[in-house]
Amino acid sequence: MENFYLTTAIDYVNGAPHIGHAYEKILTDIIARHFRKRCENVFFLSGTDEHGIKIQKTSASKGITPKELCDINSGKFQDCWKDLGISYDKFIRTTDDYHKNAVQKIFNKLLEKGDIYKHSYTGLYCQGCECFLNEKDLTEDGLCPDHLTKPEEVSEENYFFKLTKYKDAIVKHIKENPDFIVPSFRANEVLNQLEDIQDISISRSSSNLQWGIPVLNDSRQVIYVWIDALSNYITGLGYDTENNSDNFRKYWPANVQVIGKDILKFHSIYWLALLMALELPLPKQILAHGWITIDETKMSKSLGNVIAPQDILKNFELQNADALRYYMATSAPCGKDGNYSDDDFKEKVNAHLANSMGNLLNRTLSMLVKYFDGEVKPEFKTDASILNTAKNTIDIVKSHFDKYEIAEAGNAIIQLVDVTNKYVTDNAPWTLAKEEKMTECGQVLTSVLDVMCVIASLIEPFCPNIAKDMAEQLSFDLSIKYDDLTIDNIKIGKLIEKENIHPVFLRMDSELADKSGKQK
Ligand code: ME8
Ligand code: MG
Repeated sequence: MENFYLTTAIDYVNGAPHIGHAYEKILTDIIARHFRKRCENVFFLSGTDEHGIKIQKTSASKGITPKELCDINSGKFQDCWKDLGISYDKFIRTTDDYHKNAVQKIFNKLLEKGDIYKHSYTGLYCQGCECFLNEKDLTEDGLCPDHLTKPEEVSEENYFFKLTKYKDAIVKHIKENPDFIVPSFRANEVLNQLEDIQDISISRSSSNLQWGIPVLNDSRQVIYVWIDALSNYITGLGYDTENNSDNFRKYWPANVQVIGKDILKFHSIYWLALLMALELPLPKQILAHGWITIDETKMSKSLGNVIAPQDILKNFELQNADALRYYMATSAPCGKDGNYSDDDFKEKVNAHLANSMGNLLNRTLSMLVKYFDGEVKPEFKTDASILNTAKNTIDIVKSHFDKYEIAEAGNAIIQLVDVTNKYVTDNAPWTLAKEEKMTECGQVLTSVLDVMCVIASLIEPFCPNIAKDMAEQLSFDLSIKYDDLTIDNIKIGKLIEKENIHPVFLRMDSELADKSGKQK
């Protein structure tokens, strides 16, 4: 595979980022970093979704302009992603001029094609979802099931998009491509939603909504925020209906678009229809992740139970986000909900990153120093059995990533750590040294260090800082692609001095954990 393009959902900026948003960006970042070790070129797009009634109302309630609110909060998202090590190649804001111009052109292209018509309409609008809901979708009390708020009755003349024209083609695409929606069990949900799909309103009257991209030549209408938002995936590459940008030609269609399960309908129905209308190829896969819950309840701005990622880093006095990245990415199997708790976080990363992985490297290097003055001798042959296990793990991890099973990939890496720990225990290099079987002892240590290079390389997408530290102590080049990893990763000769050995991850001590508990 030469080029790989992946995207996240773009977040609404009516509040600050929470760990639900962070979960998605971390997952996508891990996929991006993994495929950078497999492909020539990776392009990772993320951004913020800045128009719509929600932003208009939030800014009004704060006495600032919508753009001021967007600047403040988009800045908070960008700062947060920096702290979490999110390595996007481009960050799009839907208030960027190039995006606004392109969306106007996209709208016009659909008009010219006859896929848009004017129509008077009365419906129930949920501001949280930024969409009209059907009566039958509401709770018994008439509330939006996701936001638990009452939708507003709206009566307007709007532009409508002929979604129904594309219904059969979308059904066909989903049925013929069982891997299109990941995990595949969600495809049925979408097929059910498609059954009673209607044409959708794709503009709002500017008497009710001013904060949006105006329709060209009809300033009384503002383009529907979801049409504006979905378009980011192509405008972010430089598409503007003439589809003449290099990046667009190079990267579209996307390999995977990562979103939450609550917005799957927009991505597997509306987005496909829009692309079909624009006569563009469809993304290869949509990955719908589950929700991050707190006490098994969805965390969301509208429910008011949010945790900010940076507060976790601060509470546990973490120098970087590796532990949080690892924990969040492995919190739930692909597509399922995952729960966050401080206790579970501390317990899991202490066990996996400090006790298992960190200690393994630390004590192996310490023994190399103790018995061999830190030197790998030419007569130390590596042990084929443990190295084959490592090689198999590379294939297992790659195949999990091919299915976007990120948690499963993380577990496979920790399994390799566990197997390697067992190898050390079983072969007891300290006993071999005592018995003066020095070549055998050196062989065990070199084999473990060789496997540690593989582990560093595999864990790097999850924990870039820890991996870098591991690689430095192993004198191993982390930029090596997975296909070029050999079984002789460790060079012969002096590897390390005693004073350069240090733990790659410190246990989060109980005192700190107590402190964060009290702050809850
Ligand atoms: O939906 N757990 O924005 P958004 C996991 N602007 N993921 C969560 C989550 C949680 N508790 N809460 C939110 C929007 N998310 C639109 C997207 S894309 C063209 C436009 C995820 O700020 C959510 O599922 O409400 C979505 O994928 C992303 O965060 C942004 O949510
Ligand atoms: Mg939302």
